[in-house]
Amino acid sequence: MGYRGLIETFRRFLPVTEKTPVVSLLEGNTPLMPSGYLNSIVGTGFEVYFKFEGLNPTGSFKDRGMTLAVSKAKEAGAKIIMCASTGNTSASAAAYAAKAGLGCVVLIPEGAIALGKLAQALIHGAKVLALQGNFDEALSIVKEITARYPIVLVNSLNPHRLEGQKTAAFEICDTLEGAPDYQCIPVGNAGNITAYWKGYQEYKKQGLVSSLPKLLGFQAAGAAPIVNGRPIKKPKTIATAIRIGNPASWKQAEAARDESGGLIDSVTDKEIVDAYKLLASKEGIFVEPASAASVAGLLKLARKGYFHRTSQITNRKLKIVCILTGHGLKDPDRAIKIVHKPKIIKADLKAVLREIGY
Ligand code: F0G
Repeated sequence: MGYRGLIETFRRFLPVTEKTPVVSLLEGNTPLMPSGYLNSIVGTGFEVYFKFEGLNPTGSFKDRGMTLAVSKAKEAGAKIIMCASTGNTSASAAAYAAKAGLGCVVLIPEGAIALGKLAQALIHGAKVLALQGNFDEALSIVKEITARYPIVLVNSLNPHRLEGQKTAAFEICDTLEGAPDYQCIPVGNAGNITAYWKGYQEYKKQGLVSSLPKLLGFQAAGAAPIVNGRPIKKPKTIATAIRIGNPASWKQAEAARDESGGLIDSVTDKEIVDAYKLLASKEGIFVEPASAASVAGLLKLARKGYFHRTSQITNRKLKIVCILTGHGLKDPDRAIKIVHKPKIIKADLKAVLREIGY
């Protein structure tokens, strides 16, 4: 078997034909890592796993949706794609557009996207416009432009994005040989939680799994429109990827929550940073802050006894999967801000030995 991206792997579940020009960077097939430390906190009746989506080609889960959205755009004869983004979508769109030979325009909120993501969009050759406004305003402009001009929208309002992203649920089920019992996931524009729910449901319909997970979504407390039940005009959080006040897939996320018997809750920036540090220092996994929201949520629910309360007593361990959506290298500034800077010493053997306690 040669190298395959997710369109080849999951072709029969996706809206492609032999005529679709597949634009792939060999995305997907990310590892499902068993937790060590976190598992010991949640308790013995549970198995905690991390789906590390930061290991996709551009460092986030967006590549799953982008391979399909860009392939379909190319099939339709498009010349330019466009998106609004808190960073990762723009990085992914820029990379896949480069591969496909398409033009790419991205609107980002000025000063509010992580450095790595900006570098990616620029180096891949996208036209990057920094808007004096937030993500929600950028998205509404992009929607208007793509409705009027021959430019393809590649935000998650494009249904092909969600079709591609649903494949992460397939991979989890394939690896676990069944659906997990719970899935923790960060929620921003709410496309990803919608896509996972679609994926799990399709696998169940096909008879490939016999159960469905409860979906547990987490928004940042300062950007939690779904939790608060109203749009947030000026969303605030250090997790810039999910700094969104009026999610495009709001209704679908609520449906995923309710149909799965799960919940959507909020986590504070402090809880996000604590989980971010814990993942790096105890699990060896470096994620960006938004991704740590899923683990912050898991810890919050575990503290409240949620998992013991909602699980029927079974003779097997219950499986909890946390989706780690983006790589930590995306946002180096955040890491540097919260660690001790390296001490500067002389280039001298004795000086080094003294520092390390010998
Ligand atoms: N985690 C990361 C790292 C993200 O970049 C995003 C969204 C999410 C979680 C939330 O996913 O929007 O499907 O609910 N980033 C978008 C972007 C908005 O523009 O890159 P969602």
